Amino acid sequence: MKHAGKVVIITGAAQGLGLACAERFHADGANVVLVDVKADRGREHAQRLGERAVWLEADLSACTADMAASIIAAAADAFGGVDVLINNAGVIHLDDFVDFPEEAFDWVQRINLKAPFLLGQAAARAMIAQGRGGSIINMSSINAILAIPNSVAYAVSKGGIKQLTAVMAVGLIPHHIRVNAIGPGTILT
Ligand SMILES: NC(=O)c1ccc[n+]([C@@H]2O[C@H](COP(=O)([O-])OP(=O)(O)OC[C@H]3O[C@@H](n4cnc5c(N)ncnc54)[C@H](O)[C@@H]3O)[C@@H](O)[C@H]2O)c1
Repeated sequence: MKHAGKVVIITGAAQGLGLACAERFHADGANVVLVDVKADRGREHAQRLGERAVWLEADLSACTADMAASIIAAAADAFGGVDVLINNAGVIHLDDFVDFPEEAFDWVQRINLKAPFLLGQAAARAMIAQGRGGSIINMSSINAILAIPNSVAYAVSKGGIKQLTAVMAVGLIPHHIRVNAIGPGTILT
C-alpha cells in the first residue's frame, strides 16, 4: 500500500495503459480519478475498483483552462487534493504527409499536447497551493524521437510532450513537483 492516501488523476483511464495505471495505483492504496471520454467504460471500471475510485467524463479534444481546472477541482472535492497527475489520454491519426488533413493534425495536438499542458498547469497550481509537492507524469512515446512517415501529428505531439515535460520539470523544481515522461514502444492495448 505504498501510495495509501495519495490522490491520483489518470486521463484516458477507460482502457489500455491508463486503466492499467489506475488499477495499479488503486491496488497500492491510492485514491484514483479516472478521466475519459468513454463514460460507460470509465464508470464501469471505477465501480469495479470500489470506494477509492471515481470517474469523470471529459472530452479532452475540447479541453480549456476552465475544463482542466474543473477536473483538478473534482479530484480535490472527492478526495481532498491531488498528488499525482498522469496525462495519458492519447490518439493517433495515420495518413501520408502530403495528404494529412489539417483537422486531424489539430485534433491530435489538442488531445495529446494541449490538454496535458492545461491539465499540468491546473494540477501544478493546486499542488503549489497544497504545499506538499507532487508528481506529474506525461505519456510520451518512442515516436517523440522516432519518425514514422504517416504519423506526423502523433510524432509532433509526442515530441512536444518531451519538451513540455522538460520545461515543466525545471520550472516546478522550487515547488517540489517532479515531472517525468514515459516513452513506451508498441504495446498491444
Ligand atoms: N500502446 C502503445 O503502443 C503506445 C506506445 C507509446 C505511447 N502510447 C501512449 O500511451 C497512451 C495510452 O495508449 P493506449 O495504447 O492505452 O491507448 P488506448 O487507445 O487503448 O486508450 C486511450 C484512452 O484515451 C481515451 N481518449 C481518447 N480521446 C480522448 C478524449 N478526447 N478525451 C478523453 N479521453 C480520450 C480513450 O477513450 C481511451 O480510453 C497514449 O498517450 C499513447 O499515445 C501508447
